[in-house]
Amino acid sequence: MLQDKNIVLGVCGGIAAYKACELTSRLRKLGARVHVIMTKSATEFVTPLTFQSLSLNQVVTDQFSAPRYWEIEHISLAKLADAFVIAPATANMIGKLANGIADDMLSTTVMAAKTPVIIAPAMNTNMLDNPVVQRNIDALKALGYIFVEPEEGLLACGDVGKGKLADPAAILERILHVLNPKKDLAGKTVLVTAGPTQEALDPVRFITNHSTGKMGYAVAAIAARRGARVVLVSGPTCLKTPEGVERHNVRSALEMFEKVTALLPESDIIIKSAAVADYAPAEVSGQKIKKSDDELNIALKRNPDILYELGKMKGSRILVGFAMETENLVENALVKVKKKNLDFIVANDLNVEGAGFGTDTNVVKLIDGDGGIESISIKSKLEIADIILDRIADKMKRTCV
Ligand SMILES: Cc1cc2nc3c(=O)[nH]c(=O)nc-3n(C[C@H](O)[C@H](O)[C@H](O)COP(=O)(O)O)c2cc1C
Repeated sequence: MLQDKNIVLGVCGGIAAYKACELTSRLRKLGARVHVIMTKSATEFVTPLTFQSLSLNQVVTDQFSAPRYWEIEHISLAKLADAFVIAPATANMIGKLANGIADDMLSTTVMAAKTPVIIAPAMNTNMLDNPVVQRNIDALKALGYIFVEPEEGLLACGDVGKGKLADPAAILERILHVLNPKKDLAGKTVLVTAGPTQEALDPVRFITNHSTGKMGYAVAAIAARRGARVVLVSGPTCLKTPEGVERHNVRSALEMFEKVTALLPESDIIIKSAAVADYAPAEVSGQKIKKSDDELNIALKRNPDILYELGKMKGSRILVGFAMETENLVENALVKVKKKNLDFIVANDLNVEGAGFGTDTNVVKLIDGDGGIESISIKSKLEIADIILDRIADKMKRTCV
């Protein structure tokens, strides 16, 4: 996804410098070439050798001992970079950048940059709240610097509040968002469903499944990155809303059905990756069901088949379903694609390693409405989402939707 992109990663002197190691590794896994510049203070927290080993590139710490590799190429890091990322960014570095100070390798290189600069601050809450720091952040934002907001939580100093470096996954997400040149879904509205549903038994208990929502959130993230307006209808999950995505939370299958049908008229593409419960308790007790010595039998009623209903209403919209099976994967998926009037079904087998609930990867068969089958080997859910959207975009081009 970042094949052959050059990312210059600036690491400043804060406790969170170790998290930049994970970011380096994630960037490399997506094919980026990572060039790390560490401030002198950063080297007090993590050694350059760590970044050198993870990036497989020489790490620059001192502007007056320029390494040879880009002298030979006669090109500066500033020109080489497709994007700059500063993570963690200290109050000091933010202050320098906002005030035109270029007194070390990182601040000097950023000053020479013409490509996007993404800044992920990390610092104590009181430092972050300091009006001078806030003024500097505002000044940089006004100049087009892109910020990945720090998170709230328990900070290394023991304080609780805002200031934790954003999760490396969120920083990566922003980098991908900034660098993705494919905007082929601009002007389209993509409706995505994700996560499990919860079917209440009483005020404290419910029936649900193991879905975490990761696949649907990956689809939503990639669709947004490709320029679409993305509306995400989500069952309960712990996941963060991807950048630029409009999220509607629902709990039960019935709530999901109502929300999705309400949003259908404004959608061009509907991708239903939620694991919707087929059944719900026939009756919901108003009070907590008391235990007794007897067995408890729960009568279940059928929930609406959302995908089937959407298939009847879809018109010229593209409708994509997901199917998870533990046996006869392809046979069952082929039946569903026809019965539910789908353009594609993404089928995965829970028994295949790297596929299924909770993983960051998936292994799927993408089956089209004519019964064509494409096998997609193990890939990250983000990459699989990109391939699914490629096939949708191709179909839209062919049918001029
Ligand atoms: C243990 C320790 C932790 C620090 N953590 C942070 C931090 O999280 N954020 C920050 O802005 N400064 C932090 N500082 C202060 C910076 O290291 C200091 O401002 C330094 O001058 C920053 O240099 P740099 O911006 O060139 O990396 C920390 C200092 C120490 C000693």
